[in-house]
Amino acid sequence: MAKVKTSFFCQNCGAQSAKWTGQCNTCNEWNTIVEEVIQKEEKRVWKQSTASKTKAVPLRIDEIQLNPEERIQTNNNELDTVLGGGLVKGSVTLLGGEPGIGKSTLLLQIALSISQKVLYVSGEESQSQIKMRADRIDSSNSSCLILTETNTQKIFKNIEDVQPEFLVIDSIQTLYTDTIEASPGSISQIRETTAELIKFAKETETPVLLIGHINKEGQIAGPKILEHMVDVVLQFEGDQNHAYRILRAQKNRFGSTAELGIYEMLSDGLREVSNPSEILISKKDDDLSGTAIASTLEGIRPLMIEIQALVSTAVYGTPQRSTTGYNLKRLNMILAVLEKRAGFKLGAKDVFLNITGGINVDDPAIDLAVVAAILSSNQDIAISPHVCFAAEVGLAGEIRPVSKIDQRILEAEKLGYKTFVTSKYNKITTKNHTIKLVEVGKIEEAFATLFA
Ligand code: TYD
Ligand code: MG
Repeated sequence: MAKVKTSFFCQNCGAQSAKWTGQCNTCNEWNTIVEEVIQKEEKRVWKQSTASKTKAVPLRIDEIQLNPEERIQTNNNELDTVLGGGLVKGSVTLLGGEPGIGKSTLLLQIALSISQKVLYVSGEESQSQIKMRADRIDSSNSSCLILTETNTQKIFKNIEDVQPEFLVIDSIQTLYTDTIEASPGSISQIRETTAELIKFAKETETPVLLIGHINKEGQIAGPKILEHMVDVVLQFEGDQNHAYRILRAQKNRFGSTAELGIYEMLSDGLREVSNPSEILISKKDDDLSGTAIASTLEGIRPLMIEIQALVSTAVYGTPQRSTTGYNLKRLNMILAVLEKRAGFKLGAKDVFLNITGGINVDDPAIDLAVVAAILSSNQDIAISPHVCFAAEVGLAGEIRPVSKIDQRILEAEKLGYKTFVTSKYNKITTKNHTIKLVEVGKIEEAFATLFA
C-alpha cells in the first residue's frame, strides 16, 4: 500500500490547499476547509480503447469536418426540448434539484421509455425499491438494467459486460473510486468519479446522465468545477406545495439555455405539461384589481412574479407608503412620475406594494408591472391574468427597454400568457412567437391599452 496522502479542500468552491486555513483563499468563505485523504498512485480508471492514443493534429478552421451531433431521442418531449433536441452521444449531463423533487422519478421514467439499452446505476435505493417505483410509473422497458453499486471500478466492469447505450447514475455523491481514499460525497471523490465517467462517455460515445444533490443555497453539492466539467447542467425545481416541476438548463454546450420543460407530479409519475396555461388558469379564481404579473430575471433565468398594490385614501395627514420585496425609494419615484407625467393624483393616497412569494426583486424591468398594479388598484379595474409586463419606467414617464427581452418573451409564452406589454424601444429578435406583443412608449399609452 502506498503512503496515504492528504490535502485540504474547500467544501464550497473545491479549491485545494496544502494547509488548513479558517477562511478559503479562493472564495473567502469561512470554516469550509476540510482535510481529505487522497492517494494518487496506481490509477485504475476507465481505460479501454486505443482511441485516446490517436494523435491530435492542428487543423485550419475550414478543414474541420462537421458531422452533425448525433442525438438520442428520450421520448420525453420536455426533456428533449430543454436539451436542444435529445441527448448528444458522448455527452455528460448533470441533473440537480432539491431532495424529493422527483429527480430519480424523472430519470427512471426516461430509462424505461427510451428504446436504447439503458444501465441505471443507483447508489441510493435497492433494486426492489426501484422496481416498486417502476411499477408505479408503469412503462416497462425490458432493455433497462438496474444495478445497485457505488464503486466506479465495479460499475465499469458491469458496463463492459452489458455494453449499455445510455448510462444513468443516481447519484454522483454516492459514488467512490478506489484510486482515492476520501469518503463518498467528498469534494475529491466527486471530482474524480465525475472525471472517470466523463472519460468513459467521451471514449465510448455513450451519453451519461448524473443526478446531483444540491446544498442549502441551491447549488449542486460538490466542487463548482463539477459544473464546468460536464456538458449540460439541468436544474429540476418546483414548490413542495405544488405538483408542478420546472426543468431548466443552466448550461448547455449543445443548445440554448432559454428553453424550459414543465412537468406535473402525479401518483403514477411525472406527466409532461405541454399546455402550460392550464397551470395559470387553475390558480385564478376571480379577477382582482391591484395585481399585475411581471417578468423578472433571477440570475440569468426569467421568472414570473405577481405584484400586488393597494391604493386607498389616506386617513392621516401624511400618506403612507410601504413595500415588501421592492425598493421604497423606487416606489416613491414611480408615484412622482405618475403624478407629474400622467396626471394621477396619488399624493393624498396610501400606497402599499407587495411582491408575492416573499422574494426581493431589484430588476428594474418590473417597474411597468408596479405601475399597472397601482393604477389597477386606484381605478379598481382588474387586469387580465393573461397579461404580463416587462419594462423599466424612466423619470420622464417613458417606457424603457429591458435586458434579455427575447428570453422573457419566450418564458411568458411558454407559461401560457397571451399578452406581453413592453417598451417599443426593445430590440426583439425572436420572430416566431405567438404571444401578442403590446409595445408602448409612454405611461399614458400603457394606461390606454390596459383600461381602454
Ligand atoms: P424522487 O424521484 O425520489 O425524488 P428525488 O430523487 O429528487 O429525491 O421523488 C420523490 C417524491 O415524488 C416522493 O415524495 C413521492 C413523489 N412521487 C409521486 O408523487 N408519484 C410517483 O409516481 C413517484 C414515483 C414519486
Ligand atoms: Mg432520488
